[in-house]
Amino acid sequence: MAVEEDSAQVSEAQIAVHWREEEYIQPPAHFIGQANAADPAILERFKEEHFPECFKEYADLLSWDSYWHTTLDTSNPPFWKWFVGGKLNACYNCVDRHLPTRRNKAAIIWVPEPEDQETRAITYQELYRQVNEMAALLRDFAGVKTGDRVTLHLPMTPELPVTMLALARLGVIHSEVFGGFSGAACGERIADSSSRILITMDGYYRNGELGDHKVKADQALDRARQEGQEVDKVLVWRRHPGQYASKSPMVEGRDFFIDELLPRYRGAVVEPVSMPAEAPLFLMYTSGTTGRPKGAQHSTGGYLAYVTGTSKYYQDIHPEDTYWCLADIGWITGHSYIVYGPLALGATSVMYEGVPTYPDPGRAWRIAERLGVNIFHTAPTTIRMLRKVGPDEPRKYNYHFKHMTTVGEPIEPEVWRWYHEVVGKGEAVIVDTWWQTENGGFLGSTLPALQAMKPGSCGPGVLGVYPVIYDENREVVAAGSGRAGNMCIRNPWPGIFQTIWGQPDRFVQIYYQKYCRNRESTDWRDWPYFSGDGAVQAADGYFRILGRVDDVINVAGHRLGTKELESATITVPEVAEAAAVPVVDELRGRAVEIYVSLKPGIAASKEVEEKVSMAIETEIGKIARPKNVWIVQDMPKTRSGKIMRRVIAGISNFTDVGDTTTLANPEIVDEIRHHVQSQKMSSGEAPRELSAEEAEEIKAFGQVE
Ligand code: WT7
Repeated sequence: MAVEEDSAQVSEAQIAVHWREEEYIQPPAHFIGQANAADPAILERFKEEHFPECFKEYADLLSWDSYWHTTLDTSNPPFWKWFVGGKLNACYNCVDRHLPTRRNKAAIIWVPEPEDQETRAITYQELYRQVNEMAALLRDFAGVKTGDRVTLHLPMTPELPVTMLALARLGVIHSEVFGGFSGAACGERIADSSSRILITMDGYYRNGELGDHKVKADQALDRARQEGQEVDKVLVWRRHPGQYASKSPMVEGRDFFIDELLPRYRGAVVEPVSMPAEAPLFLMYTSGTTGRPKGAQHSTGGYLAYVTGTSKYYQDIHPEDTYWCLADIGWITGHSYIVYGPLALGATSVMYEGVPTYPDPGRAWRIAERLGVNIFHTAPTTIRMLRKVGPDEPRKYNYHFKHMTTVGEPIEPEVWRWYHEVVGKGEAVIVDTWWQTENGGFLGSTLPALQAMKPGSCGPGVLGVYPVIYDENREVVAAGSGRAGNMCIRNPWPGIFQTIWGQPDRFVQIYYQKYCRNRESTDWRDWPYFSGDGAVQAADGYFRILGRVDDVINVAGHRLGTKELESATITVPEVAEAAAVPVVDELRGRAVEIYVSLKPGIAASKEVEEKVSMAIETEIGKIARPKNVWIVQDMPKTRSGKIMRRVIAGISNFTDVGDTTTLANPEIVDEIRHHVQSQKMSSGEAPRELSAEEAEEIKAFGQVE
């Protein structure tokens, strides 16, 4: 759609799309030769006419205690039930069943942040021991029972997967809160899930410092208490057993060191509890929400089958691969693609404790070289950071990836090409996997040996997933029309979350109400899933995700996607990262402001600002020309690396920036505010008082709901 088009024709869901079509890149022959999914017959088997039975193929990758009788039960939509009648244990599937064939193979290789500390390889046998002893402690000392919820606030150390698997062994629902989150955020999640046990760690390394983490447990318990939830016991792992890294006192009768208790359970064996397929396995609270947190409830059978199948075919994991997902387990990516998927396949999963660029920009590639990593998985934010601080570093290390993944936000084609050429050395196939916390596993991706890559596009729907783009009038937006709309999935899939913990009405309202055709119908075809993302589908069926539909900037009636503004910006060679936000403008309703950070060694200049404006003008059009380009040291980011656009939008508009407690770098906010607002004041861009609606819009900008 042309920018000049009459705005009256632009429906709410439509975003002006100005992306250029990118070239296809074919997977290398050596990859195809060894791929798990190399025969196109698999695409046939997962066609819609074989749905839902096609997912038997995923379920059959697992070991079931009792086999299921019904593949998909749709009797109470949209609360789908998969593999009904089946019973299994997730821990058994990830650990015990590998012992006969792979007892002494590494399950987890853990790399501590300090380079002088030893890398730890945990074999399946060792994992089996640790998980059993921990399960015994949890059952006999902490008194947890099947169906209870237990909150974990653990960093990236092996104790995290050990604890998750021990709880799964007992049929207890784990709820891991990202280690970087504050005590208050943890407390809210404890209260929301009514956990009576918190499992934490005294400290962990980040950027060379052993920080105090246990202190957050006390704050968490205070917050939980305010919300009416008492916690009986706090179990504390110690980063260095026997030494306590926190200043926070241990509370007698409440707080216990796990390393002191474990010897009591030496050699204990705990029978895995056989759980119904639809029993909840874990809760994962979604980030960036306002109001009550949303605990996405994931099932045991459907979820595990889905992550195992997608790990096999989309991550192309073979047992002999060394697979490294550089993400945090406190994020759904880590649950699905560090722990459950790879371990269910009997693979070796690498875990890294700290900052990927510590102590220098070569660290990640040194780890890859040292361990012989051949599958690498990370997020665009990490890729951009690695590119920013060490654009040539990968060339200095002798590693070879066969496969790489990008996940979590749209990747700019420029950045994609660096990933492919420099990180992947032109040898690796890339999958750009689109999905969400709520989805359990990938929804949009190319099947790596069978479908060509296209930078910036995730590809078609994955096996057994049939996406569609609807407009606001519930009409299908045709592939190749150049129009964007709301990305939806027409069918249920085994990894879909079961509900929002304790909020079933909100679950239906957010994800299904918008496109449900008939509330009385028990036919899944009447219940499309609404993702909340905007997307455009090319004529070849590939989807390009434009980001959340509420991240749109409406300039004089033209809806501009933040991601395409940012992609245009990043074509300027000096730019490392970009964020686009709206600023209230008397003339045009909203104008665009662009925040950029530059590559190392490049100084801020008027010239760079002008280049950014020009790039946007050429790539998108005059209408999108930014009112200001702000060059900043760094962007405010969440701990999972997402740029908090609402914070900079607040700064640009002189409004309240809202809660910044979950930021990874809260100190940057004042620095940016000072820089931007003092210049605005002196250039006479006097802030007028925003109306309540305008202020609300700015505050909600870039929020994920
Ligand atoms: C949102 C979900 C995927 C699990 C981790 C993030 C965006 C995710 C992609 C991608 C474009 C993407 C979407 C989605 N997103 N992957 N490959 N291309 N956008 O989970 O925190 O729940 O975020 O991340 O906007 O809705 P999440």
